[in-house]
Amino acid sequence: LNKIGVLTSGGDAPGMNAAIRAVVRKCFYEKIEIVGVVKGYQGLIDDNIRLLDPSSVSGILKEGGTILKSARSKDFRTKEGRGKAYINILKHGIDALIVIGGDGTFTGANIFGEEFNIPVVGIPGTIDNDLYGTDLTIGYDTALNTVVEAVDKIRDTATAHSRLFFIEVMGRDAGFIALSAGVASGAEVVLLPEKPTSYDELKGFLEKQYSYQKESSIVLVAEGENMGSTLDIANRVNEEHPEYDARVTILGHLQRGGSPTVVDRILASELGVAAVDALLEGQNSIMVGMVKDEIEYVPFIKAIKNKKNVNSRLLNLISVLSG
Ligand code: F6P
Repeated sequence: LNKIGVLTSGGDAPGMNAAIRAVVRKCFYEKIEIVGVVKGYQGLIDDNIRLLDPSSVSGILKEGGTILKSARSKDFRTKEGRGKAYINILKHGIDALIVIGGDGTFTGANIFGEEFNIPVVGIPGTIDNDLYGTDLTIGYDTALNTVVEAVDKIRDTATAHSRLFFIEVMGRDAGFIALSAGVASGAEVVLLPEKPTSYDELKGFLEKQYSYQKESSIVLVAEGENMGSTLDIANRVNEEHPEYDARVTILGHLQRGGSPTVVDRILASELGVAAVDALLEGQNSIMVGMVKDEIEYVPFIKAIKNKKNVNSRLLNLISVLSG
């Protein structure tokens, strides 16, 4: 193994830089050459590749975003695009790839690894935490902290006006952010794709809350939940119960930014090193994950296809503690 290429792809996540740094420094330690591919798979196709050395990753451990930039490449979904990418890999003498991203990134990596003779190892980087085979994905803990900070602030104004707030969080098809942030911020209700709630159930719950004369209520809505758009839900509640004075906040992309937490920095550093180790051991088409504080190798196909369940204990906590 003489030369590794590293890239970040899909939605960026805080801690991706820490992972890049770990990969680069570990390669230096192992005397392997390392190149960075700019803008994910698109950079492979466009030959946007540059040499990295230990100093090129100085100071990035604490930075959000990704110095390698990211993209959701349409061209890489085509056989032609992947062919171009492979030609550039040969041109640069790259022997193996490390891809940092989520399920879309690993889906691409898996196909690429089947079509061409190049070992690929993945590092889970997504705020959604929706990958099987790792307790946490890089960026999730930071996003949770960002969400909880925002919900705390909204709680202040909600209480001042005795209002109901619907706060929408990211997560794509998964409710991990909504559930964990819900427990940590004392949300009265969470709406998750994993546990469909009917409008009548929600209404019944809010009526109960209101009858307790709660000072404020917060419904944390996972963007992938089943009931329709957050604005539509809130409008319907307001029509039927104008006295709740409901408001909506969609947190959006602020959840993807910011300096990574300690948890994400350590996870990214460990997985970055583990990814290079995996390649040195001859692994291919796997994701490095962290399960119960141990490194695990998970085939891409499992990481993508197997379903990671939300924690039912946490779900229970929401209803017990909502008061
Ligand atoms: O996968 C990360 C994520 O932030 C999801 O939570 C969200 O659904 C999606 O990416 C948003 O994608 P984009 O930044 O392309 O709008």
